[in-house]
Order: sequence, then structure tokens, then C-alpha cells
Amino acid sequence: MCGIAGYVGPKNAVDVVFDQLKRLEYRGYDSAGIAYLDGGSIQVTKKAGKLSELGKVLHDSPKHAELAIAHSRWATHGGPTDENAHPHYDRFERIAIIHNGIIENYLELKQDLVAHSHKFSSQTDTEVAAHVIGREYTDGVPLEEAVRKAVKKLRGAYALVVMSLSEPGKIVCVRNSSPLVLGIGIGENMLASDIPALLPYTREVVIMEENQIAILTKERIRLIDGDGKELAIEPTHIDWDIDAAERGGYEHFMRKEIHEQPQVMRQVTTGRIDEKGKIRLEGIFGDHVWNEIDRVNIIACGTAYHAGLMGKHLFESALRLPTDVYFSSEFRYGDPVLSPKSLAIFVSQSGETLDSLAALRLCKQRRIRTLGIVNVVGSAISRECDRTIFTQAGPEISVASTKAYTAQVMVFALLALYIAQVQEVPGVRIDEWISEIGRMDELMAECLKLEPQIEKLAEEYKDMPLCFFLGRGADAFVAMEGALKLKEIAYIPTQEYPAGEMKHGPLALVTENVVSIFGATDPNIRDKVVSNIKEVQARGGRIIAITTSEDELMDQVAEHVIKIPKTKFEFLNALLAIIPLQLFAYHVAKLNGCDIDQPRNLAKSVTVE
Ligand code: G6P
Repeated sequence: MCGIAGYVGPKNAVDVVFDQLKRLEYRGYDSAGIAYLDGGSIQVTKKAGKLSELGKVLHDSPKHAELAIAHSRWATHGGPTDENAHPHYDRFERIAIIHNGIIENYLELKQDLVAHSHKFSSQTDTEVAAHVIGREYTDGVPLEEAVRKAVKKLRGAYALVVMSLSEPGKIVCVRNSSPLVLGIGIGENMLASDIPALLPYTREVVIMEENQIAILTKERIRLIDGDGKELAIEPTHIDWDIDAAERGGYEHFMRKEIHEQPQVMRQVTTGRIDEKGKIRLEGIFGDHVWNEIDRVNIIACGTAYHAGLMGKHLFESALRLPTDVYFSSEFRYGDPVLSPKSLAIFVSQSGETLDSLAALRLCKQRRIRTLGIVNVVGSAISRECDRTIFTQAGPEISVASTKAYTAQVMVFALLALYIAQVQEVPGVRIDEWISEIGRMDELMAECLKLEPQIEKLAEEYKDMPLCFFLGRGADAFVAMEGALKLKEIAYIPTQEYPAGEMKHGPLALVTENVVSIFGATDPNIRDKVVSNIKEVQARGGRIIAITTSEDELMDQVAEHVIKIPKTKFEFLNALLAIIPLQLFAYHVAKLNGCDIDQPRNLAKSVTVE
């Protein structure tokens, strides 16, 4: 999500870390800051907005230092302001830290610190972490030891980087779920959240592993584990060019983002499931509101609309809560009938889509409660909704949305469980859901292993004139999203339908070269899907079926079978099926030489009606 940079060595560290941050700019951010030693104090300079804003302040009076750390922030806790930008000091301004990720228990820690007269200048979890480390950093304790002790008190996912006034030539960093890479130079060492930032300076890197702590001085890098035990350093040589490095070595952002989905599954739930197995969605409406809501309207565009359809499916099937889904552009001019006790949910990756924003303003005029499910913190929709749940998927760069979709659907799952928890809805096994949700990262990683099989299918069918995407229940909604991927990046005409509708018209389009991809991940209606497959087969159509691992029936029916892992819930099975569909679209587009990350005629954020 955010960018991290750090340098110690003979060059001007301020210039080096600023340059490193620039190399991470493509990831998206909303504020930036830098800390360096200046005589007897740690100087922190930080600014909301683009790096050029920070650059102006830095370059107006050039700074020089042998050690600096820097950060570009993509807001999670607290809006994108100067105060919330990193670095943050501890209580006595003896250390400065930067941080990626989320400290889940920061409110508890903050309460305790406030009770001990600590004062805070920001709303961030990072400043709390700085104070926790500062508290351990008593006389005679080395910085790495203070960090090692402090992180035992932190829960969540984070990469933390710390510098100190008392140990001026040392940077200490720790990794827990958020990436950190160390760069080995000659007479200089450095670190960053991502390899591209390091490549102009070194190609020898150490990719830190979970719970490792690194201590950097200009002469050497040491690595220790959580018990303080010394670890061997194993550098990797990187020979990617700088452009490829921005994409993490992937040829396209879209493929990188598809492959990030296991990690996104962890990010979405971070801080939202507590140790007692309760769903915690901070800052949303109180229980009385959830008990009063009689209807939900989900309003969105494009991929976010498809995530909304999944939300409807779950709200109605699990909660029996009537839910409608609208395209934002239709909602606004459709004179919608809105119950005063209804809730309007706006789903948006960018948070800036004008059609959605206009629909939101209409709901506000009508005094309907509004809730955002948004990826970009500080965006217009997140600011204007009464409440917002952030998807925490990290910046999405490819125009075709992938990881934002899976994150949005998972937020709907968390929200449905939260409502079930508040309303004590009978029959919703929250514990079972939580345990299955906890496996989604591994299961998505398994789905990604299907890529070679899918690539072969893409080769076989790359010239298809038309592709049907079909399914029943939640599979039908995922089919719609799979179809959107193929048409937007590979420019192949698609028809997406609930499988049972084929016989009422679309079947007339089936000819020999037409491909039909069926989602059949729900064992309860699989036999009906099989009948629909046979209808298409009888007209000479080519069939690809996506089913779950235990199903043997489909092997006898379909020409190609893609098997994905099975969960206890058909909703989650259906969601997993999006991964092969995303990969299929990607590989067809690639084989056809399409501009995958920036498809013709489309934009990432659509701010016109
Ligand atoms: C554009 C993008 C789509 C996206 C849609 C809604 O059309 O190309 O990928 O799904 O806008 O965007 P939002 O940011 O509101 O989710």
C-alpha cells in the first residue's frame, strides 16, 4: 500500500530517500514525509498531497544527512493530512518511525498510553506504535531490542522502520505481513517496501521474512528473529529492468494484482475479526440502526456493481434482508422508491465515480442512511457517505479491476456477518464463516496455481467469436464479472446469463466456435447446470466448466473442467471461481496482443456522467 524508503551511507540520504519514494509513486499515495538527523534533533518534514509538495519544502533549503527514512502514505487510519503523514515521533522525539500496514489493537494501546499522560498529534495507529517503541527504549537498551520488545505488544500487519537520535548511524526495521526489502551497497545500506526503489542503488537485495528484524548501519546489515537470535543474510540478485520491477516482475499490473489476491484476503480481514471470534467493523452505525433497517439498496458501477450483486445474494440468503442493486447511472434518474428506514450502500474502488457520487447525493437529499464500501481513503464517496468501510485492497493500477472486486465481496461477507451478529440471525454460523474466511488466502493461492491450465485454454480459444458466461445462484453473478473482464481487456464479445435463461433466447447464438464457461461451484444446483451444459453441447458449443475439487460428475460432462477448492459456503466457492475467470481474460488478451493495463476507450476512474 504505502511506500517505505530508508538509507544510511555517504550519499546525501535526504536526496536518496526522496528519489526512492519517487520510484514508488506508481503505487498511489496521498501524503509523504521524511525524517533525518540534523545536529541534535530528528527533523521530520511531511506534507499532504503529492511528493512534489514535500519536494518544495525540502528543496527550498537543501538538507544534508547520512541517514534518512521516508514514507508515502495511502491513508487507512485518519485522513490524508500533514499531521497524519509519517514519520511520527515517540513521546520524547527520540525516535521517528514510518509504518505500512495496520496495528489492530492501537485503540487499546492508545488508551493505556493516554492514561500515562502520552499526548498524540495525529489520528494514526503509527503514532501509537512510535510511543510503544519509545516506552521500551530506555537508557542502555539498544534500539533493536526496544523494537523487538515493543512489537510483541502490537497486533496486526505491519512493516515498521525506526531511527533514533541516540544511535545516529542505525536504522532498525521489522516485517510482519507487509513487505520490506533490504538493499546491500558498498559502504552504504538501504531498505524499501518494494524492489524498484532500490534498483538504481543496488541489485543485491534481501527480501525480509515474517517477524525478522533488520539492523542497518552503513558498514553492515544484521538480521535477528523475534527471540533476538542472529540470522544468516541471504542476498538475492535482481536483474529485472526498472519498469518490470514496478510491476513486481510481472509483465502487467493486472497479473500482479490478480496474484496479490491471497494477500488482499488477509488485508480485508485485518482488524475486523477479534480474538473472541466476533466481527468488529469500527466506526459504522450503532446496533439500533442495524435493527431498524428494513431494506438495502446497493448502488455502484462496473465491477463494483457486480460485487454488489454478490452482496445482495448474501444479504437475502443469509439475513433474509430485502436488497436491490442499482447501476448508479440508472438509480439517479430512475426516481427510486426509498423507504425511510432503508440503507443505501455505495461500492466504489476509486471513491470518485461521478455517477455513484451523484446517486449518493440524491440519497442524502432524501435523508436515507448511506454507507460506503470504498478502496481509496479520503476519496469523495468515502467523505460524503455517513459511514465507510474501507476495502484495504491497496492501490489498484490496472484499469480492469480484480483485487478490488474480491475485497469488496469480502467486505460484504464481513458486513453480513456483522449484521447477523447484531440481529442474532438464527442459522448463521458466524464461527464457521470466520474459519472459512480465514482460509480464503490459501484457497485463492491454490486457484492461482491453475494458471498453466488456463493459459492452455486461452491458447485454444483466443480467436473465439463469442463467449458465454453462465451459472446459477452466486455463480451467475460471478459469471457477469468474468464476462466484463474478457470484454474489457480482450475485446471479445460476451453474453452473460443465468444458465437457466439460455433456452429463452441466447441459445440461438450458439455455434461451433462459440465458447460457454459455466460456473458450477454450488453442489445443490449442479445437476441443473449440467442440464444447461447439455443444451449448449447439443448445439455444438464448446464447454469449459468451473467446479469444486470433489465433483467427479463434471469430468464426464464437460470438455474442459477447472477444479477449484471447496469451502463450506457456496458464496465463497463462487467467489473463488473469479480467479480462473480473471486469468482466462488476462491470457486471452495477452495472446491477442491487447493493451492489458490500459484497454482502449476505458479509464480507471470515471469522473464524468
Ligand atoms: C470504471 C473502471 C471499472 C470500475 C468502474 C467503477 O469503469 O474501468 O473497473 O469497476 O469504473 O469504478 P469504481 O471506482 O467506482 O469502483
